[in-house]
Amino acid sequence: MRKWILAAMPLMMGVLSVGAQVKKPATKPAAAKQAGGGAAQIAKGKVLYKQYCMTCHQENGTGVPRMNPPLVKTEYVLGDKKRLIGILLNGLNEDVEINGDYFTNPMPSQAALKDQEIADILSYVRNSFGNKASTVSVGEVTAVRATIK
Ligand code: HEC
Repeated sequence: MRKWILAAMPLMMGVLSVGAQVKKPATKPAAAKQAGGGAAQIAKGKVLYKQYCMTCHQENGTGVPRMNPPLVKTEYVLGDKKRLIGILLNGLNEDVEINGDYFTNPMPSQAALKDQEIADILSYVRNSFGNKASTVSVGEVTAVRATIK
């Protein structure tokens, strides 16, 4: 029954409705996924952090000495958001000194995450573990990703 109605739609309503039918499923979930910003966004980021970052950086962001750096008040976390977003999209493979400890292990790229997910995670990280900084918007992540591809 439903299939029949969908198939008959273009005939009944003209070519324009075909475009509307095709577009609907694509735009609906994307719009629903937009985080509300502020507390809601940070809460979503916390869930994602536990899934994608915690194994290395630990639940409280302290990392693992000489293996995985801390995310507690580091210049990377609190500093330039573009650089921070870039670390998640590109990964990081440099010898870095962070809060007096040295790290050489590479961090794998997290580019498979959606822009919204990266924005949520970084908003959480920048407002947890004693950090206090502005949240990250999906647009900021999209803009950095555009410079990489
Ligand atoms: C497989 C382990 C691993 C995972 C998973 C991982 N990281 Fe990292 N991360 C590292 C390592 C190792 C470095 C240091 C890389 C280097 O020395 O070049 C690093 C560096 C960083 C830095 C910059 C240095 C600092 O401490 O301020 C940030 C920020 C960061 N990671 C955030 C994250 C976030 C957020 C996630 C989750 C989306 C994540 N990482 C997932 C291992 C990991």
